[in-house]
Amino acid sequence: MSIPPQLESLHTNTINALYSRSLVSTQDWSTADLDALTSVAAAFQALDRVGVKTPLCPNELAYAVFFDNSTRTKSAWAGAASRLGMQPVIVDGSSTQVAHGETAAETGAMLGMNAHAMGIRHDLILGEGNAFIRDLKGGIDHYLQATNDSRQVPIVNLQCDVDHPTQTLADLLWLREYFPEGIQGKKIAVSWAYSPSYAKPLSVPQGLIMLLSRYGADLRLAHPPGYQLIDDCMDAAKKNSAESGGSFTVVDSMDAAFEDADIVYPKSWGPYDLMLERVQANRAGDQQAMGEIEGRCLSLNAQFTDWICDEEKMAKTRGGDALYMHCLPADIGDEVSPAIMEKHRVNVAREANWKVYVIMSMLACAKVPNLTQRLRGFCP
Ligand code: CP
Repeated sequence: MSIPPQLESLHTNTINALYSRSLVSTQDWSTADLDALTSVAAAFQALDRVGVKTPLCPNELAYAVFFDNSTRTKSAWAGAASRLGMQPVIVDGSSTQVAHGETAAETGAMLGMNAHAMGIRHDLILGEGNAFIRDLKGGIDHYLQATNDSRQVPIVNLQCDVDHPTQTLADLLWLREYFPEGIQGKKIAVSWAYSPSYAKPLSVPQGLIMLLSRYGADLRLAHPPGYQLIDDCMDAAKKNSAESGGSFTVVDSMDAAFEDADIVYPKSWGPYDLMLERVQANRAGDQQAMGEIEGRCLSLNAQFTDWICDEEKMAKTRGGDALYMHCLPADIGDEVSPAIMEKHRVNVAREANWKVYVIMSMLACAKVPNLTQRLRGFCP
């Protein structure tokens, strides 16, 4: 078998520079770093598609803790770990001693002493998850240094309150697959959409505007009043956009965002002030207050039921045929009409499938010295 072109074209030095790095937010990394990471993800996909096994980290433990539900990211974590020869273990965060007040740093030290990679989802409370992940990583690193343990134990953000990097990088790889010419100059609408199900984290739209703004797109963010995103993420999107020669604008209707769009990404998130109000109630363990705030979030959402990606909205996009994207799960009938979802069912599955290769890349780049040579060695 010949070496797939995705593997031939890897740049060894830029990939070696990712050794020992953890990805908490894409905004922490340079565009060159992210491009190196996604090039390795593309190589992993190409090798997987032709059946080449890549057990780069045999007999190692890939431990993930989820403080929220997940279908795709859990299975992508398990799929990535097993393809690398690691043993995946996935734990419900509410079953750990964090629920009894054990700190993130202490938890990191205790889990990191046994694990060879850590994944964390902590996305429900604004202002907490990202800090928790960084403190947990600090706990792992402190333990490893204090005990002269030379293992690399990278941490992967599997969604926090600020960013969802495995998702947005999967989205970027899917966009590059669908538009091989790239997304420079493409009109991309990231829009709020109505949901009656629950007040969803802000991290997907925040992650999207921070990442896609790096590549010269004409990016439009749309949301109703009160559904603004974190200032730091907005500032990052503006800066990235200016540097990449793209544009970043905020509009107040899905219609305005969809006008002539090449790509639409309509999804729901919670109202900003109420998401902040949850912080105190959560810290106090006040489930009644949490439930009451959730009810107010959904009442507010219900004022905007016309924010649905349907045939009428899609007709406004370029040629009436924009690429529909969603991180999933989507509220079908509320965020998106059944017909639009049906038309793009395979597209959103292909979008989701990139996540396993993104996680493989994050783990392998951080853990495996001379990764390019090692990967080429798997090709017979
Ligand atoms: N998109 C996404 O992260 O899906 P899960 O919540 O199912 O992991």
